[in-house]
Amino acid sequence: MLKIRLTFVLFVLLLILIPGTMSMQNSLVYQEPFRPQYHYSPPQAWMNDPNGMVYFEGEYHLFYQHNPDDVVWGPMHWGHAVSTDLVHWETLPIALYPDDNGTIFSGCVVIDENNTAGFGANAMVAVYSYDVQTQGVAYSTDRGRTWTKYEGNPVLPALAPDFRDPKVIWHEPTQQWVMVISAGREVRFFTSPNLRDWTYASSFSAGHIVATWEVPDLFPLEIDGETRWVLVVSVGALAPAGGSGTQYFIGTFDGMVFINDNYPSTTLWLDYGADNYAGTTWSNEPNGKRIFIGWMNNWTYANSIPTSTWRGAATLPREFRLVRTLEGIRLAQTPVAALENLRTLIGTWDNLTVSGEHILDDIGGRTLEIIAEIEPNAADRWGLVVQRGENAGTHIVYNPARSSLLISRTDTIDSGYIPNFTPAFGAPLDLNGQPLRLRIFVDESSVEVFAQDGLISLTAQTFVDPAANGLAFFANNGDITVTHLEVYALESIWSETP
Ligand code: FRU
Repeated sequence: MLKIRLTFVLFVLLLILIPGTMSMQNSLVYQEPFRPQYHYSPPQAWMNDPNGMVYFEGEYHLFYQHNPDDVVWGPMHWGHAVSTDLVHWETLPIALYPDDNGTIFSGCVVIDENNTAGFGANAMVAVYSYDVQTQGVAYSTDRGRTWTKYEGNPVLPALAPDFRDPKVIWHEPTQQWVMVISAGREVRFFTSPNLRDWTYASSFSAGHIVATWEVPDLFPLEIDGETRWVLVVSVGALAPAGGSGTQYFIGTFDGMVFINDNYPSTTLWLDYGADNYAGTTWSNEPNGKRIFIGWMNNWTYANSIPTSTWRGAATLPREFRLVRTLEGIRLAQTPVAALENLRTLIGTWDNLTVSGEHILDDIGGRTLEIIAEIEPNAADRWGLVVQRGENAGTHIVYNPARSSLLISRTDTIDSGYIPNFTPAFGAPLDLNGQPLRLRIFVDESSVEVFAQDGLISLTAQTFVDPAANGLAFFANNGDITVTHLEVYALESIWSETP
């Protein structure tokens, strides 16, 4: 009897203690050196591409390429997180496990409102690749909490080498599903009435074709009352910042064929930094917005970045829009507005003249948002230093002679140990007599720079000494005027139990 009672007391004690211990562990996770404080990263283990982004019944879903058993790429699963504001994330159990057809590569999720597939009205339907380059389907009828693989998988055989990463949209004008999928150095379009039977429609290839194309996306955006179609394609190597990068095309799409406005001359890059890859956009976004998120990493060194219990993070979610420029229509991006809820203002300045280095004393931090407007005057190399320490810092530099805005991460600690960690990269940016308008997000191991209202984006991982948290401006051989400056500390999204 006593034994039974003791066992019962022990059992009750365990029930009380275990959740306490777990939440303690969870709040300790996300405090490791270099752990992003307001970007999504998995609690532990490996993450690459964001997958299956979809909005449904109050939740933004983010699935992702995940190897739960190691901090390097391996057998792929779909990890899963949800958010109500695209800023705070709750990690849920793994959504898709490998099966007899293979491990689970990248893909998408749509909401099958009209039950075209027969899995139920409003079923969440995932269309993804297996590692063997066949395509599979799975569905959920409980808000993505549990998933059933379609028994007829695979729904498409491996029709080409590197045939993967389907993105499916509902094409309203032709009342059919359209899939865009990469196939070597091109994308192919397929159509379907039911998400299970797919018919080839056309192929497209242009721009940067010197490496394998991966993870395409296709969506319409309005400009001046006109609809243009944007095709986004990630390319595995030789992008402007070195290694993998993301290009896009603007054109028309009739449900079968994509025609590129710029063919064949121009390659448009979505990001000029080294660390924005394999990104796609949310489907079913309730406010008609086009919101993108990428993997904040680069295949040339992804497996060797100096993080501990986890490896890989997502970029900030960014809202896309089209803008007219002197060169033509371009894609511009703005981090989602809900990020402003993380702000605490720590300083504003107007008309600060800088010559040489100007350290903003007492202002700094590892998680910052900086809004700056800068008049170049006559300086020949000028900009900001963030993550600034004794012998450390990440430089955001404007070079007038080259009309180029660049990030220099040469002071990265451990950079000697990260193979192919490009030290600096830039975006072409002619100021045309305008001030430089910057919005910069600094996190523990990243810097995202948006210039000229998001027309230019530079995303970079940075592994600077974790103690380096200063902020400075500099101007060489002349001065600049910082006509306006706002600096915000950004609160961690992990202060609550993830
Ligand atoms: C892109 C990619 C995809 C593939 C996945 C595998 O980063 O190579 O083409 O589906 O990662 O994890």
